[in-house]
Amino acid sequence: MSSPSFFTQGDKRSDAADIPTVGVGMLGYAFMGRAHTNAYKKIGYTFWPPPMNVELVHIAGRNAQAVEEAARRYGYTKHTTNWHDVVNDPDVLIFDNGGPNDQHLEPTVAAAKAGKHVICEKPLGRTADEAFDLWAEVAATGVKAMTAFNYRFFPAIRLVKEMLDDGTLGDVRHFRARYHQEWLVDPQAPTSWRLSKEVAGSGALGDLGAHIVDLARYLVGEPSTVSANTTTFTVQRPGGTVDVDDAFDALVQFEGGALGTLEATRVAPGRKNHMRFEISTTNGTVIFDQERMNELQLHLTGTSPGDHAQGFRTVLVSETYHPYWENWWPHGHMIGWEDSFVHELEHLLSAIRNDTPIGPHGATLEDGYRCAEITDAVLRAAETGQRQTIRYRELGR
Ligand SMILES: NC(=O)c1ccc[n+]([C@@H]2O[C@H](COP(=O)([O-])OP(=O)(O)OC[C@H]3O[C@@H](n4cnc5c(N)ncnc54)[C@H](O)[C@@H]3O)[C@@H](O)[C@H]2O)c1
Repeated sequence: MSSPSFFTQGDKRSDAADIPTVGVGMLGYAFMGRAHTNAYKKIGYTFWPPPMNVELVHIAGRNAQAVEEAARRYGYTKHTTNWHDVVNDPDVLIFDNGGPNDQHLEPTVAAAKAGKHVICEKPLGRTADEAFDLWAEVAATGVKAMTAFNYRFFPAIRLVKEMLDDGTLGDVRHFRARYHQEWLVDPQAPTSWRLSKEVAGSGALGDLGAHIVDLARYLVGEPSTVSANTTTFTVQRPGGTVDVDDAFDALVQFEGGALGTLEATRVAPGRKNHMRFEISTTNGTVIFDQERMNELQLHLTGTSPGDHAQGFRTVLVSETYHPYWENWWPHGHMIGWEDSFVHELEHLLSAIRNDTPIGPHGATLEDGYRCAEITDAVLRAAETGQRQTIRYRELGR
């Protein structure tokens, strides 16, 4: 089924520049609602011409006063505490789901059924079953649909992808990734939706681990087996009992033969947003660290300066020939974490405007589902103490 035209709903044309305008509806005004809104605002003057001009139409959130304030602050015309109002708004053509994990399935499917293109935050579902249902139901509508794995849109990570795809790095042998934060070190830190299995599905695994699982798939390929540990260091916190993992680690085998280690924790003192991976290949090793997001550490075997001074060099990813940099500042004038969302949402707008696919660089809903299949396998492996074979379902089976 082809995707609906962006001319169908809420479409207005800018006579001056012949750039169509698209209406955005947002679920959530907090962390991701703000990060995505910020990105929609920047697309128009970062990319020129932008694929579409964005009109911030309607925003939903739980707290009436807070959503009203968010609408004023961010520039949305309408606000509501009932996400159905956004889904049913004829002026909205893109539904952006920045709600907690238990609010991903129903609103995203409802929006797609109402003819809206959709982008949904990760993890796509609380379980692989839920993510599969979301993918299947949205796929049946034919709208453009994306899982919001924004790390794919970091210029340095895209450069790693290019060096893997063009053979510069050779074949991958090791993928070692970790995602460490510290915000749960204090046992008196209160519970929140992120510490509830019913709302979040899992803990550090789905919150942080999902990002590195997606990068593993994007950069290396499909994991085929996994062994794992999970633990919850602090079970009782102010506000209730924690029933998700504080941390996990896992060993994976990839279908292509590479080996991988994955770990995430929210209790690593000193670590703010330490997402780091190291890929060793037949030709070298490349290292990415989110807190130095415009750099790569790169060692390429056999390259100058020669046998007696081999080692890693720092590549500052900010040249016009680096991914996305033709849209930004002169080299060395750096961009930030928030700008990955600018690239991500521009990709979605381009896919809608030009009817191009979300993949392989954008994460599809199938990517979101496959990630959930892997994180479910991590939980099974930890529970049983046995290595799990990961099986992926196809639509229609
Ligand atoms: N891509 C990333 O880097 C990244 C980073 C953080 C969070 N996330 C993901 O984004 C999602 C949201 O996380 P967050 O940190 O923004 O959460 P948050 O708690 O900061 O915000 C959640 C928002 O959802 C709204 N909400 C909750 N239930 C609702 C309902 N029933 N109806 C309407 N609005 C409702 C709340 O009012 C709030 O505005 C999660 O799935 C999370 O995993 C992704």
